[in-house]
Amino acid sequence: MAAWIWEYEGYEPDHERVRESLCALGNGVFATRGAAPECAADAVHYPGTYAAGCYDRLVSNVAGQQVENEDMVNLPNWLPLRFRLPNGADTSWLTPDTHPVHGQRLRLDLRSGVLERTLCYEADGRRLAVRQVRLVHMAHPHLALLRTELTAEGWSGEIEVESAIDGTVTNSGVERYRQLAGHHLAHVRAGAPAPGTVWLSCRTATSGIRVALAARTTVEGNAVPNAGVSTDGRAVLAFRVPLTDGRRITVDKTVALHTSCDRAISDPLHAALDRVARAPDADALLESHRAAWDRLWRNAEFDVPGEAGSILRLHLFHVLQTLSPHTVDLDAGVPARGLHGEAYRGHVFWDELFVLPYLNLHFPEVSRALLTYRHRRLERACDAARDTGRTGARYPWQSGSDGREETQQIHLNPRSGRWLPDHSRLQHHVGSAVAYNVWTYWQATGDTDFLHARGAETILQIARFWADTAVYDTGLGRYRIRGVVGPDEYHDAYPDSDAPGIDDNAYTNVTASWVLTRALDVLRTLPAPLKDELLGRTGLDTGGTEHWEDVSRKLYVPHHQGVISQFEGYGDLAELDWDDYRHRYGDIRRLDRILEAEGDTANRYQASKQADVLMLGYLFTPSGLGEAFHHLGYDLDEASWQRTVDYYLRRTSHGSTLSSLVHAWTLARARRTEAWAFAREALMGDIADLQGGTTGEGIHLGAMAGTLDLVQRCLTGLEPRPEALRLDPLSVLYAGSEAYGFAIRYRGHWGIRLRLSAGRLQVSVPDSDLAPVRIELPDRTVSVAPGETCTASFPDRPGRRRHTRADGPPPDSEDVRERCPAGSDPPPD
Ligand code: BGC
Repeated sequence: MAAWIWEYEGYEPDHERVRESLCALGNGVFATRGAAPECAADAVHYPGTYAAGCYDRLVSNVAGQQVENEDMVNLPNWLPLRFRLPNGADTSWLTPDTHPVHGQRLRLDLRSGVLERTLCYEADGRRLAVRQVRLVHMAHPHLALLRTELTAEGWSGEIEVESAIDGTVTNSGVERYRQLAGHHLAHVRAGAPAPGTVWLSCRTATSGIRVALAARTTVEGNAVPNAGVSTDGRAVLAFRVPLTDGRRITVDKTVALHTSCDRAISDPLHAALDRVARAPDADALLESHRAAWDRLWRNAEFDVPGEAGSILRLHLFHVLQTLSPHTVDLDAGVPARGLHGEAYRGHVFWDELFVLPYLNLHFPEVSRALLTYRHRRLERACDAARDTGRTGARYPWQSGSDGREETQQIHLNPRSGRWLPDHSRLQHHVGSAVAYNVWTYWQATGDTDFLHARGAETILQIARFWADTAVYDTGLGRYRIRGVVGPDEYHDAYPDSDAPGIDDNAYTNVTASWVLTRALDVLRTLPAPLKDELLGRTGLDTGGTEHWEDVSRKLYVPHHQGVISQFEGYGDLAELDWDDYRHRYGDIRRLDRILEAEGDTANRYQASKQADVLMLGYLFTPSGLGEAFHHLGYDLDEASWQRTVDYYLRRTSHGSTLSSLVHAWTLARARRTEAWAFAREALMGDIADLQGGTTGEGIHLGAMAGTLDLVQRCLTGLEPRPEALRLDPLSVLYAGSEAYGFAIRYRGHWGIRLRLSAGRLQVSVPDSDLAPVRIELPDRTVSVAPGETCTASFPDRPGRRRHTRADGPPPDSEDVRERCPAGSDPPPD
């Protein structure tokens, strides 16, 4: 069983920001970075609190241009709690930067969702031991708690404690964005309605979201606050507390946070005050919070031993803190960097492609809510298509509050100091990711109600956009999609061309063809009244859909030297001297920045930031990929795919955390050792801050969820389908583990347990009145009834070739079935 504790020893200013991100606590509604409560934002510390879906836009003047950016707003900081010795020679506030600290330890308990911090301050020759415990409540999503225990060691005397809410915060957590406007909080007001309670309210500058926090601070021994005052944007309470040598004093700060986006409230301030007044005491809050996490872990049970298992658990913890069951009640998407920092301004990209497949099998309601976020913005996506003279839906590359395109117009290369045009908005493939997610959600859950209503409309409008965007080229006898950017963001134009975008991106075209095909499937299966209603409402005529079929079969996929070309002309670009760049720069993940700073451009080279063509190996199973190409009239045999994999492996710098994940996935079936190296990189991405200082600006949610899904779907070959669970396990395991397992939710069964060890698969279905679960193995189908455990053997397959029914069952394939009493564990392997 992997460890549940994540620990950091000592105070290391250089690592503080990464720790703050990795020790952030959240509940899906809001999250707060793991910053020291006694420190305000500065070069070392960055306390930040963010609520899902809470955005604000400001205009900035940079590089002689007026640019508008929408940010996920850094909300007032509820953490501040500082202390000092008022009667000595040194009456300054104690912080780890101004006073010696001994034995600092941060201890994140993943099981209970509690962050503990212990340290000992030295001031004026006196030692003060501090233990803090904090939570962002998982059951009461508008509550947080900071408990502080103070113990005088070897002295007695008075201490002053200040507890505050800080409304002076700005969005300034990302160095590269510092020249951009970041003052999002306006009309800051504060008050102290009752002894021990303060409140602070404000509203966001342009989106007008009202925000209110209330804090109730109690000090053991009934110390009375000397005032509840509001000064310059902060609500402050101060206490004088007598300390006796060796006797611990507890200060509990309970905080309520509401915004006007919340449901079932009248106004945020009233809601926050009422909630904090009614909040139970700290012990009860701790207990109910632990119980809520317990329930969550039961739905997300997994067992991967060793280091990999510990990291996966941390990843899962952060996924659940960003997207929790509370997300169901929100209008929020999947923020690429969690609710953990300000990188990418809290925007929503295509990263949900790596998150939803995991959630579908554990928290399908959350997946549905995230797809609904997209559906609510479908009209906006249709407007975006219409603005360019096309029909259908063009989803934005970066999405925030209302679904308009939020991608920045210019971005800073920190290496050169230059602001450069940003063409990443041409990544229209994001629409295919939305459609793919709708489809796979339905496959995993069988939620036909969703598919037939919002799902169908979303898929159809995205398909319609592709059909209208593809232009027939008579010379080629195929359709082309031109002027786009693929997943590899290094290539946003042809060298020496003034026009942005590249043509015939293989990933874009293959996925567009897939979306068109699925859209036609949906139209075929939609009940007549629903179909008529949908066609009437969207103005689609079925005649037009014949054209869809044609486009889906005739989109152009360029090839060169026997491999799939990332886009037309990729093979004509110059080769980069990779060794030279590695030698000169060491870390070349952000090769684009290096080249631009040299006065060159990545557009000139066969050099990719991240998996682009190889993304196809992530989205499609080996046979699915073959079928997708066959549908397009291309023959993609094993040898040409292997050549393609080799080709891009040598030409990718992995400047995105998603890249190593996708490479691990794509290689898992073919080259185990190479796959494991990439999986390890994906696992280490955030904990070792591999992307050069970016973790401190927020976690990489897609890569985190993707590593979980790597165990769940890639290693097992799991494909949930409405009629059966398909499984085609690989004998490759996460390094260092002999067996691994996890539980999934599928078709009403809560907690179907899958356990894999070399050559053996065990499936246990929990007892219930539901129908048996059909398990389709490559060579046979078994049916596992509720209360039953089935152990099946599968052949060790070093390569990508599937063991099929034609091969017959492996020699020792006697499936063993046992009945387990309800609620008991399955038999051990
Ligand atoms: C990657 C994108 C990703 C974005 C947000 C970028 O660096 O290139 O693929 O969507 O980060 O995670």
